[in-house]
Amino acid sequence: MASDATPETKATTVLVVDDDADIRVALEMLLRYEKFEVWTANNGKQGLQRLAKEKEAGEAPDLILCDVKMPDMDGMEMLGELQEIPEAPPVVMISGHADVAMAVDAVRRGAVDFLEKPLDQNRVLVSIKSALRQKQLKRENTGLRKQLSDRWELVGKGAAMKALNEQLERVAAVDAPVLITGENGTGKEVVARNVHLRGPRAAGPFIAVNCAAIPAELIESELFGHEKGSFTGAHERRIGHFEAADGGTLFLDEIGDMPLAAQAKVLRVLETREVTRVGESKPIAVDIRVVAATNADLAQAVEEKTFRMDLFYRLNVVPLRVPPLRERPEDVPLLAEHFLEAIAKREGRRAASLEPEAVAFLKSQPFPGNVRQLKNLLEAAHVFCEGTIQRGELERLFADGPSLSAPTTAFAAEEDPFTSTTFEEFKNASEALFFRLKLAQNEGNVKRTAENLGMQRSHLYKKLDRYGLKN
Ligand SMILES: Nc1ncnc2c1ncn2[C@@H]1O[C@H](COP(=O)(O)OP(=O)(O)OP(=O)(O)O)[C@@H](O)[C@H]1O
Ligand SMILES: [Mg+2]
Repeated sequence: MASDATPETKATTVLVVDDDADIRVALEMLLRYEKFEVWTANNGKQGLQRLAKEKEAGEAPDLILCDVKMPDMDGMEMLGELQEIPEAPPVVMISGHADVAMAVDAVRRGAVDFLEKPLDQNRVLVSIKSALRQKQLKRENTGLRKQLSDRWELVGKGAAMKALNEQLERVAAVDAPVLITGENGTGKEVVARNVHLRGPRAAGPFIAVNCAAIPAELIESELFGHEKGSFTGAHERRIGHFEAADGGTLFLDEIGDMPLAAQAKVLRVLETREVTRVGESKPIAVDIRVVAATNADLAQAVEEKTFRMDLFYRLNVVPLRVPPLRERPEDVPLLAEHFLEAIAKREGRRAASLEPEAVAFLKSQPFPGNVRQLKNLLEAAHVFCEGTIQRGELERLFADGPSLSAPTTAFAAEEDPFTSTTFEEFKNASEALFFRLKLAQNEGNVKRTAENLGMQRSHLYKKLDRYGLKN
């Protein structure tokens, strides 16, 4: 990590700005003893000149210690000037007794701390180290946020994706509920994450709830929380997803599968902005944005009376439709490249490329499992191909299984149940393989897989989760 951000390394530089030579010398000695690099300046003007000169050489201090009262340009003025500079170093003010009030004011205006004269050596070091630590945390935070938005990058530059991106940008800025619709694997969750990350709530939590994965009898307690002892099995008080999403976004995935009773309660929360835990009477205010997604036709569900009309209208304030991949074949090459690069990064090797014929072939495919299917297909192709992926290889993978992504043959040797040493391992490996195959045979459609297997969908979700089979 950035070596300049910890006081233990030589590269950490502090700029000391003070008109009092004794203080400059004392601080310089103290800081050099602690292995800091020290620059000095007699007043704000000199300090800024030094910053400008060093900047030309690509240098900048990690922190500035700045006296409040100085001739020419005082600390407050210098602080004001620094606020104009992007990514300016943190400033710790130094003040005499008489100007503590000003120092406090400086902290209000962006200084990170103030030190009172006569300076206590320990206090100086603690303040500097804490400011540097804060700076590092801030940098790490920015890095993490960047990683997060990379992880959820919405790839695609064709007309359909451009239009979606434009809508997304507008929608992200406001707080209205959003309903995302689209076939399986089109990228509804990616879109939901983008609504969150591109909006003012980005720093808040993003809580994703798969409504189809929660057994009907538990959905209220999952969403709204419960008090200890409110029903059999409620051993502990539990915070619901609505509360957990306070200050951020609640993503209600597969909303079409929400039981009617829960739908009525969700509608109430959306109207009142309050939740009541199961077994409690006192409501709790929640500040959330709701984003819902479904691959079902909710308008039809409303007609069939399996989905409440009032909730549909409330959620559908801003509809976002994610088009199926076959409607945007122009995005296929970009998506393919994106996935191949991600695979390569994960495995620490060079990204495979697709020969032009292979790209043309992919663009012509209907992809009933959409982007997820393309992604799985490339995962499989990558297992078999070194360097360049040929059209023939893809054709073979398509021909291999109903999933068109050949998970039956593309399982790695270590997944083979018969290599298990214990019965327990064998059972788990077989089960994982079985669900993976069944899911693939249904193009990743969990609902259909559950129906075909005669299983409860929430049960199947648990299995898929356990074996890391969703996405
Ligand atoms: N435009 C895109 N750019 C990059 N990755 C994408 C894009 N669209 C989808 N993906 C990837 O494809 C996979 C499926 O996407 P996602 O889970 O968002 O689809 P979904 O519509 O929510 O699917 P489901 O209907 O099964 O819930 C994920 O791995 C996701 O990261
Ligand atoms: Mg999804």
